[in-house]
Amino acid sequence: MKTRINNHDILIVGGGATGLRAALAATNKAAVDVGIISKVPILRSPTAAARGGIAAVLNRTSQDSPKNHAADTVRAGAGLSDVKAVNQLCQRIPEEINWLARRGLPFTHENNNIAQRPFAGHKKSSGKPAQRSCFAGDRTGQLLLHTLYDHCLNQPIKFYEETPAVQLIRYKERIRGVIGWDIAAGEPLIFLADNTLLATGGAGQLYEFTTNPLPSTGDGQALAVEAGYPLKDPEFFQFHPTALARSGILITGAARSAGGILRNKHQQRFMQQYDPENLDTAERDRISQAITSEIAAGRGDTADNCVWLDLTGLSEKFIRQQLPEVYTTCRDYLKINPARQQIPVKPAAHYWMGGLPTNLAGQVLNRQKQPVPGLWAAGETACLSIHGANRLGTNSLAETLVMGKTSGEKMVGRTSHTELPTKDLENQLQTALKKLCFSNTATNKVDCWRQQLQTAFGKQMGIVREAEGLNGLLAEIDQLTRKVEKQKTDSLQADRRYRFDLIRLLELKNMLRLGRLAGRAALARQESRGSHYRADHPEQNDIRYQAHSIIGTAAQQNKIFYDRVKTE
Ligand code: FUM
Repeated sequence: MKTRINNHDILIVGGGATGLRAALAATNKAAVDVGIISKVPILRSPTAAARGGIAAVLNRTSQDSPKNHAADTVRAGAGLSDVKAVNQLCQRIPEEINWLARRGLPFTHENNNIAQRPFAGHKKSSGKPAQRSCFAGDRTGQLLLHTLYDHCLNQPIKFYEETPAVQLIRYKERIRGVIGWDIAAGEPLIFLADNTLLATGGAGQLYEFTTNPLPSTGDGQALAVEAGYPLKDPEFFQFHPTALARSGILITGAARSAGGILRNKHQQRFMQQYDPENLDTAERDRISQAITSEIAAGRGDTADNCVWLDLTGLSEKFIRQQLPEVYTTCRDYLKINPARQQIPVKPAAHYWMGGLPTNLAGQVLNRQKQPVPGLWAAGETACLSIHGANRLGTNSLAETLVMGKTSGEKMVGRTSHTELPTKDLENQLQTALKKLCFSNTATNKVDCWRQQLQTAFGKQMGIVREAEGLNGLLAEIDQLTRKVEKQKTDSLQADRRYRFDLIRLLELKNMLRLGRLAGRAALARQESRGSHYRADHPEQNDIRYQAHSIIGTAAQQNKIFYDRVKTE
C-alpha cells in the first residue's frame, strides 16, 4: 500500500472550537499552512453541544472585574487551580468575546450591548450573582463553531474530515505529526508537521449517562498516554446536575440562574437543605451530590431515577427567547411545554477536568514537567489546572478560546530542523496499522464491551465513589482489555472503506487506556474534593492531597506510574 503523506507547518487534531480558534490564530500571525484532522465532520464536533455561554467580565466595575472572575474560578477549583493560568484566562477572555462579536457570532443583545446572564458560582464583590455569561440563546457552542468554521474557510487551512488519529509520530523525542485513518478511503494517511496540537475534547463517553456526544472518547489524551506522557488529575470528572432523564441532553444551568427550581417527588425545594444560601444556583458538584442523595433516599422519581426542574415561574416568551433549546428539547422529546410542566432531570457526566498537563503556552509536559518538543494540547484535552477539582459553568468555552488562540500563536515559528528518516516512518506506520487489523467477527462485540465499560464507570466512578467499587472497576477494565487484546486480527487487504466498526474499536481501546488511569487516580486520592466524592473518605485532606495526580504508563509498557505533586 502506498501511503499518502501530507505536510503542514502545524497540524491540529480535532475540529472543535479549540482547534479552529488555534488555526485562525496561527494563520493570522504568520504565513503558515495548517492542517486540521477530525474524526467527524467539523460541524458535528462536540462543541456544538455546549449551551449556556462564555464567562467574561466585559464591564469592569467596583463590583466586578477579571480579578473577581479569577477569585471565583480558584475558589471553585478547591485548592487545585493554578492561579497564573486562571489569571491568564480571566484577563484575556474579554478581548476574545469582542473578537468573536466582530466576526459575527450572533450573541444575544440587550440595549445594543452583548447581554450577560448570571451562572452558578460567578459572584460580585458583594456576594450577589455576577452577570458574566455571554451567550447566544442556549445555542452558544453551536453558533461559536459555525462562526469559527466560516472564518477558517477563508484561510490556508486544510480540513481532513472523518479522519481519526491513530498514533503520534515521534522522532528523537520530538513529535513530528500523526498517522491518521481516512474512513472513506479505508487507508492510512501520514501527517507530518513541526508542531501538533491535540484538541479532541473530553472523554464523557466513558459514562453511559452523559451530556457528551458519541465522538467524545478521549482520543487525543489516549494518543499521548500511549506515547508515554502522563495524565494530570484524571479522577476529576464533573457531573452536570440537569441532564434530561433518559437521553442525557443538557438542560443548561442558565435555566436555574433565571429562576428554575429543583424539586423532589414531594415537590420540596430540596436545595434548601443542602445549600440554603445558594439554593439552585449552588456549584455543580454540590447540586449533583444533593440530587444523588435525594434519589438514594427514595425522594426521586422512581421510574427514571430523576428529580424535577421547575421552570413554570418563567414565562413562555422568556424561555423561547433565552432558552430556545430547552423549549424545543422539551417539546420534541417529552411533548411538554416547560413553561407549564416540570422537566425530569438527573446528573450526567459532563466535563473532564483532568487531561494532558500543559504549561501556560499549551505545550504538553512530560512526567519531569519538561515540554515535549512539537506536542501541544488545549481545551478539554489539556489540564492546565484552570478548573482544579471543579469547573465553573461557562468557563470551558472561555478556556477553549483563550488557550486555542494562545497555543495557535505560540506554535508559529517553532521548527524542528531534523529530517525524519523514511525507514523510521515506515516502522511507525506498521505499528499503527496493526491497530486496525481486526476482523469483522472481532469488531462485532465492540459495542457490547463499550456498554459494559460505560455501565461500570457510571456505577463505580460516578458522583459517589469508594475503594471497593473502584477496585471492581479496575478489575473490569483489565478483563475487557484482555478480551480486546485477544481478538482475531487479519491482514489489511480486505476492503476497509467506511469500516466504522474499526473506529469504534480504536475508541474503545482509548477509553480503556484512560479509564484505567482515571480509576487508579481516584483510588489513590483518599479524600473528597470538588467533583471527587469518596464515601469512605468524606473529608477534604489538604495536608496529604492538596496535590495533583500525575499518572501514566511508560511507552509500550503496561506498568502504571503515579506521582502526587504538591500544588505550587
Ligand atoms: O449549563 C450549561 O449550559 C453548561 C455550561 C458549561 O458547562 O460551561
